[in-house]
Amino acid sequence: MQPPVIAPSILSADFARLGAEVDAVLAAGADWIHFDVMDNHYVPNLTAGPLVCRALRRHGVTAPIDVHLMVEPVDSLVPEFAAAGATYISFHPEASRHVDRTIRLIRSFGCRPGLVLNPATPLGWLDHSLGTIDLLLLMSVNPGFAGQEFIPAVLDKLTQARRLIDAGGHKVRLEVDGGVKLDNIGAIARAGADTFVAGSAIFGTPDYAATIGALRAALG
Ligand code: DX5
Ligand code: ZN
Repeated sequence: MQPPVIAPSILSADFARLGAEVDAVLAAGADWIHFDVMDNHYVPNLTAGPLVCRALRRHGVTAPIDVHLMVEPVDSLVPEFAAAGATYISFHPEASRHVDRTIRLIRSFGCRPGLVLNPATPLGWLDHSLGTIDLLLLMSVNPGFAGQEFIPAVLDKLTQARRLIDAGGHKVRLEVDGGVKLDNIGAIARAGADTFVAGSAIFGTPDYAATIGALRAALG
């Protein structure tokens, strides 16, 4: 298993001070920045686009930016986010008409492709794609909003996904997104995740370094 990654989601940051917020979580020990893109079509909420991603790069952010596209259609935004400095670009397969084409498109721009599965979306989507992606993101809430409760059935799904990744010898990160907190991150890690998105659990606390330190300690 690869070393654990903690990826604060900017969705819970103070958007009026986004550059400073991102600097602060990175200085506090975060590994990646999770960048949630919502279009008010695939999900019932609207956030930020490539302009904001590019602004973070211009601000001086050098850490990996983990772009989570909750948009439909997907392909037209891929070149935009690649040009804006995205490191990973993940999408929900049911939002793309040609999943393999979208994965190849992401890689063609030098970015790392990821697939995102909602809580009720089956692992079967991986049958013919696990060998072509760098990241598998399992949603542990229904996408659209920060601050929702972790859905416990996702623990078993994580274990199954971990088995698929290891059995195939794939170098794919297994990421979890939604409701990750201090009191469940240990169980989530034991279920097989190695990459942890946390929005409200980090940005909702006053001392980011203490929170990220505690999350890391809870990983064991
Ligand atoms: C939900 C987003 C998540 C969200 C996580 O659609 O994809 O990244 O910001 O927020 P928390 O950690 O508060 O559940
Ligand atoms: Zn997300």
